[in-house]
Amino acid sequence: MLTDRMTADVLDSASHLQIIANLAVGYDNFDVDTASKKGIMLTNTPDVLTEATAELTWALMLALARQIVPSHQAILANQWKAWSPDSFLATQLTGKTLGIAGLGRIGTAVARRAPAFGMSVVAWQRQDSDGSSPDGILRLNLQEFLQRSDVISLHLPLTTATRAVVNRTWFQNMKPTAFLINTARGGLIDESALKEALDRGYLKGAALDVLNEEPQGASHPLVSHPLVLATPHIGSATSETRRAMALRAATNIVAALNDETPPDLLNAAFLPKA
Ligand code: GLV
Ligand code: GLV
Repeated sequence: MLTDRMTADVLDSASHLQIIANLAVGYDNFDVDTASKKGIMLTNTPDVLTEATAELTWALMLALARQIVPSHQAILANQWKAWSPDSFLATQLTGKTLGIAGLGRIGTAVARRAPAFGMSVVAWQRQDSDGSSPDGILRLNLQEFLQRSDVISLHLPLTTATRAVVNRTWFQNMKPTAFLINTARGGLIDESALKEALDRGYLKGAALDVLNEEPQGASHPLVSHPLVLATPHIGSATSETRRAMALRAATNIVAALNDETPPDLLNAAFLPKA
């Protein structure tokens, strides 16, 4: 599981291990170099969770923009007294710009849904990413990306290069009316910088499906923040997708143990030749 950290210590005490099949697409829980040196195959579960994660991203975007959760809570607190022209006023998405950070499989699937909501899309990719991404999406440098986006959604893998990539500079350049959504990895965000930015009104709200340390409860300063909508790492949590992920992981393991190349082998290039 993505919660199991496959560190050098763990790998060094596993003398017969042939494969570790992650039940996730992200594999920041793997020490890829050590596993590769030891000839251990690593696999993940790409593709099968792309649409589910894109759906959650949109669910969070709509919920955040339209204040769904605070509205529901207001009813439960008996605060719905009358319909009125200016109560529960929120943000309209139609006509706004969606900024996608990381145009891989999931980022692209999120972008694909934007025209249906009347949103235009811009994207930012790190210079060292492979650069292959769909046509028709305007790529911007970071500064322009931050200044133009009304909603920013993160779809980057967590690596040493992307850890805390969303930092003070981002919040200083974002629109004060913008929303931030993270369905990728908590470690992408400098969480204390986000908390400070929310407190200072540098952005309007954040939806976080992932946090740097998980799990968390109400005592976490971001989870309990009035401008934050938090969910418990449920991007791929549909019964359809979790079943497909389990089958994919099992297929990778069976292939490895039959001396075949697992379909989702991550470290082929590094493995010592048999
Ligand atoms: C879930 O977080 C995944 O990486 O699949
Ligand atoms: C709102 O309920 C409307 O009918 O405009």
